[in-house]
Amino acid sequence: MTEQELKTKILKIGNLPRHIAIIMDGNGRWALSKKLPRIAGHREGINSVREITRECGELGIEVLTLYTFSKENWKRPIMEVSAIMKLLVETIRTEIDDLMKNNVRLNVIGRLDELPDKPRKEMETGIKRTASNTGLNLILALNYGARTEILDAVVKFCKDVENGDTHYENLTEELFQTYLYTNDFPDPDILIRTSGEYRISNFLLWQIAYTEIYFTSTPWPAFRKKQLYEAILNYQTRERRFGMVGEQMKRSTT
Ligand code: FPP
Repeated sequence: MTEQELKTKILKIGNLPRHIAIIMDGNGRWALSKKLPRIAGHREGINSVREITRECGELGIEVLTLYTFSKENWKRPIMEVSAIMKLLVETIRTEIDDLMKNNVRLNVIGRLDELPDKPRKEMETGIKRTASNTGLNLILALNYGARTEILDAVVKFCKDVENGDTHYENLTEELFQTYLYTNDFPDPDILIRTSGEYRISNFLLWQIAYTEIYFTSTPWPAFRKKQLYEAILNYQTRERRFGMVGEQMKRSTT
């Protein structure tokens, strides 16, 4: 099917995901396969970020979460880490007008306070400038680790108990999720991982309990509109049962 046919088809089916989360993998391998330095893969990856963000906005998706830099990524060679941080600053600076034009609201999950000054300030500026936009929520997971997020939530909850603001007996799944970084957003409906790896890599562990997972061998720099439509179409053909049987789901939607 052509790109346009795919788009028409997914819009006709409807039932689009509200929240798409993506593990953007394969920048390095994409570059090396073209005999380019790894950073060239990250640069091309930015073009995918731009195209996927615009398209999600146009499709009316509410939330797009991109795994941009994990807590574990600090272990990469220092040259690569600084190049990614530089790219992040440049990208926010150059893309902000486009985000404003497309009514995109920028958000971050992760320990932003531990980022170097420049990227941290750039992100804070971007978040402030786009705060009143009402279209797509673009969440960048930066210095993010899901286990750390859960521990941070536990500490916040315990502090609230100590202060007398809540009580241990009040703790339910619904209350706990309000302590997570993603508090304001629905759980992802689909999680996409590019580049042929079958791992979750410490991403949104709490939030993906009932998320549909889609793996593709396409590396992130080659993941564009067409590949996004294919992932959405695949999602639309799945039956989500949330632990129930198919018949119950049919009854609840009719
Ligand atoms: C994974 O490819 C990619 C990353 C760890 C970094 C992603 C960063 C960007 C696309 C640039 C900044 C993004 C934004 C949103 C401003 P990899 O290096 O792990 O690839 P490999 O598995 O082939 O080595």
